[in-house]
Amino acid sequence: MGGLVTAVVLLAGLVSAAVSEPRSIFKRQLLTDASELRSNYDFVITGGGTAGLTVADRLTEAFPAKNVLVIEYGKIEYAPGVIDPPDLPFQSISNPVDSWTFFSLPNPEMRNVTAFVKVGKVVGGSSCANGQFFDRGTRFDYDSWAEVAGFGQSDIQWTWRSILPFFKKSVTFTKPPPAVAKRYGYTWDIAAAYGGSTPIYSSFPPFQFGDQPVLEHTFREMGIPAKKECAGGDKEGICWIPTSEHPITMRRSHAELGHYEVVSNRTNYDLLVQHQVVRVVYPKKSNKGPPLVEVRSLPNGRLFNVTAKAEVIISAGAFHTPTILQRSGIGPASFLRAAGIPVVADLPGVGANLQDHSAPPISWNYTKPTNFSDMPSDFSDPTYYANAVAAFDEVPAQGPYTVAMGNSALYLSLPRVAPTKYRSMVNKIRAVANSPELASYLPSGPDYGSNPAMVAGYKAQLLALAKLYENPDSPSLEFPWLSGTTIYAFLLHPLSRGTVRLNVSSPLDQPVLDYRSGSNPIDFDLHVAHVRYMRQLVNTPTQRKYGSVELLPGPEVQSDADLKEFVKDHIILSLQHPCCTAAMLPETKGGVVGPDLKVHGVDGLRVVDMSVVPVLPSAHLSATAYALAEKAADIIIRQWPGGHH
Ligand SMILES: Cc1cc2nc3c(=O)[nH]c(=O)nc-3n(C[C@H](O)[C@H](O)[C@H](O)COP(=O)(O)OP(=O)(O)OC[C@H]3O[C@@H](n4cnc5c(N)ncnc54)[C@H](O)[C@@H]3O)c2cc1C
Ligand SMILES: *[C@@H]1O[C@H](CO)[C@@H](O)[C@H](O)[C@H]1NC(C)=O
Ligand SMILES: *[C@@H]1O[C@H](CO)[C@@H](O)[C@H](O)[C@H]1NC(C)=O
Ligand SMILES: *[C@@H]1O[C@H](CO)[C@@H](O)[C@H](O)[C@H]1NC(C)=O
Ligand SMILES: *[C@@H]1O[C@H](CO)[C@@H](O)[C@H](O)[C@H]1NC(C)=O
Ligand SMILES: *[C@@H]1O[C@H](CO)[C@@H](O)[C@H](O)[C@H]1NC(C)=O
Ligand SMILES: *[C@@H]1O[C@H](CO)[C@@H](O)[C@H](O)[C@H]1NC(C)=O
Repeated sequence: MGGLVTAVVLLAGLVSAAVSEPRSIFKRQLLTDASELRSNYDFVITGGGTAGLTVADRLTEAFPAKNVLVIEYGKIEYAPGVIDPPDLPFQSISNPVDSWTFFSLPNPEMRNVTAFVKVGKVVGGSSCANGQFFDRGTRFDYDSWAEVAGFGQSDIQWTWRSILPFFKKSVTFTKPPPAVAKRYGYTWDIAAAYGGSTPIYSSFPPFQFGDQPVLEHTFREMGIPAKKECAGGDKEGICWIPTSEHPITMRRSHAELGHYEVVSNRTNYDLLVQHQVVRVVYPKKSNKGPPLVEVRSLPNGRLFNVTAKAEVIISAGAFHTPTILQRSGIGPASFLRAAGIPVVADLPGVGANLQDHSAPPISWNYTKPTNFSDMPSDFSDPTYYANAVAAFDEVPAQGPYTVAMGNSALYLSLPRVAPTKYRSMVNKIRAVANSPELASYLPSGPDYGSNPAMVAGYKAQLLALAKLYENPDSPSLEFPWLSGTTIYAFLLHPLSRGTVRLNVSSPLDQPVLDYRSGSNPIDFDLHVAHVRYMRQLVNTPTQRKYGSVELLPGPEVQSDADLKEFVKDHIILSLQHPCCTAAMLPETKGGVVGPDLKVHGVDGLRVVDMSVVPVLPSAHLSATAYALAEKAADIIIRQWPGGHH
């Protein structure tokens, strides 16, 4: 189905990039072999992705006399944008940079469909592979982290108020030129959301496709308010979302450029590429002091240990951080024992609590002439195409290639979407949270469903989510758009929980993902409410003018039961926003790290990446990954003597 391909291209950023010409880069501190390493390091960071490089930048800056090593599986590559020349929008699916692509187990509640997932396997991680959509969650999302965790007495807080300064610090927002702002109606509020100068860029492109305003008008006609700024904690309504791209070149901005390239002349910043972190090892049968890091060279397969004097920071992302921990014996004890791995710390939350955004489509057709200019189909005109390619090399860059995944999205609350039904849905969430059946929604067994701490953590999450769902300012649904007549309704706060486990017969390989989407059946009620609301868009004056007719779900699909079957038939299981697999929660709630991001029960080990988030925010994740890592770095710097900001 063309629409599905289009959406996967747009949302996951899977557009081909034949021009990924690797730059010739020589850096003294760019290491490719164990023989080049120092005898020991103060900090070892495992995974040079979005969060890992942010932390490495801050630690090398704060501690000029301490040595930092980042160990990364991939190498340095040129990372084009989701749609850079010579690619045509919506036409090809391949990897802009080297990435892992793999599939989940079949999801029984969703017709055994498998989730297709992707991870940037490159210096810069998923910031080099993503869709460049650069939004933040709401204040309610981040406050819910603190609420679920309940680290009351801690002097480290993870609330909106305490994270906002790091959101601001983490990016440079550049306002568009006045003529561009006027042409498209871009709005922003620097005081509410920005002010930082870190070279990770947040910009608006000088281009939109000709049909962008059609949906904006449609949604205004549905009575949805337009928000001036959506990165300042409040975004229920129609939003302009910036792109992570440079304000002049309009090329992708990412962690390798902003947190390595520009500071790689620091003599205390070493980056070892093409090496896989196998596990951390506590020598002398003790888990005191920082662990050794066992590393495998990809070119020659050799294994060796690296010593950290201060601490080890795991930043391998939500799918791979659990694999490093599980290979280290830090994880669900009965799973580890069955796998023959000696248990160092029984933490059932390692690889549990997997969450991601999923979405069914809504599509329609214009049966009257539209005559939009500047459409993706115009690229088939050789003159338009040649002009577009040339415009991208102007200074500042111009034209259609400056648009990445689009800049428009709706974020709608459940009270708006289902005004007569939301109360009963929220009551149902609370009833499930308080019922003895709660455990039956989790995977069975001693590591999860029959583990009181894991059930307590799930209960705390559902109660916090019920609060989000009844809040008219907290979005339940996201609907991003760029161009065209198919859009996807993201379920922002899924109630179902999945798992990430080592492949026991091949532990250095990709982990086994069990998405379990829809295993909490209330997720279907939410999807159905979202589709019911969104399908009304064809009834607006703007859509009627173009003779809009619904294609999906299709006029014959009306009952709740039929809509549920429609969701099962058409859902995209992963919008590439996995999180929460080493959650920042107390051990009594199945947590893996504390508010200082230290792993419970072992010394000298932290996790800093999207694994530590307890509950998925109502946003694409890269902005949160940067801000979380900025705050983590601040915590680490305060805990070691000699750091200066
Ligand atoms: C295709 C795609 C599209 C997306 N679209 C958007 C979007 O439009 N907007 C948005 O905001 N977010 C988007 N995201 C999500 C966002 O980019 C990620 O959530 C975020 O970058 C994750 O940051 P991280 O630091 O947790 O992990 P990553 O940035 O993925 O970093 C993990 C790093 O660890 C390395 N690694 C893993 N295992 C090992 C090991 N054993 N040894 C050594 N190194 C290892 C990996 O190679 C990688 O470099 C998208 C993600 C993908 C994959
Ligand atoms: C899904 O797969 C399982 C295991 O193979 C099978 O028992 C079940 O019938 C399948 N369900 C569907 C809807 O195909
Ligand atoms: C690294 O380069 C930057 C910019 O060229 C310069 O300002 C800085 O002093 C250099 N740092 C070191 C440690 O050489
Ligand atoms: C790393 O150190 C641990 C603990 O001393 C040891 O058991 C392991 O064999 C070492 N690995 C390598 C590759 O030397
Ligand atoms: C969409 O409408 C056009 C007429 O504008 C028609 O030719 C086309 O067949 C329709 N497509 C679908 C899938 O119904
Ligand atoms: C289509 O739009 C162009 C300008 O955008 C205009 O010149 C032309 O007359 C329009 N054609 C129709 C059929 O409306
Ligand atoms: C585990 O790894 C083996 C060997 O590579 C592979 O054949 C198998 O399919 C993997 N299992 C899963 C569930 O991915």
